[in-house]
Amino acid sequence: MRLTVNARPRDIVVADDESLLTTLRDRLALTGAKRGCDRGECGTCTVLLDGEPTYSCLALTRACEGARVMTIEGMAAPGHPTTRPPDHPTTLHPVQRAFIACDAVQCGYCTPGQVLAAVALLERSPDPTDAEIVEAMSGNLCRCGTYPKIAHAIREAAAAMRAAPTAAP
Ligand code: FES
Ligand code: FES
Repeated sequence: MRLTVNARPRDIVVADDESLLTTLRDRLALTGAKRGCDRGECGTCTVLLDGEPTYSCLALTRACEGARVMTIEGMAAPGHPTTRPPDHPTTLHPVQRAFIACDAVQCGYCTPGQVLAAVALLERSPDPTDAEIVEAMSGNLCRCGTYPKIAHAIREAAAAMRAAPTAAP
């Protein structure tokens, strides 16, 4: 089958019951999506599927054919529409930069999923309320308890993206 990951088509052979998380990590060496609970409860495996945060541990890879899969590795990749400027391969997404600036990372295990959930939130709601942030991030657990800093980072990223709309996704 053909799977499009981070805007790159990949021709792969997968088992019928293989999860997208297993495909990403074990076949494509994209280990940014983390295996936590492996049963749809923690959000560490979150990727964007056609722009929507999705638990990759619950998604069957075969069902993703024709969809756009975005992992944390794609956030700063050259050519991705959210990189700034597009020809600079090391430019991080504004949400990634805000997580760093706000120290919204402790162990980092949950961070890729948190960043992708936040990116999706800001794509649909450029100026989210605190309640919207809580709701949008409720599927991504952080055992280190960095929730206040994550919320701060999201507000900072939103402000930065509104101030520089050409940098918005
Ligand atoms: S590993 Fe997928 S939700 Fe926990
Ligand atoms: S930073 Fe450790 S689980 Fe979130």
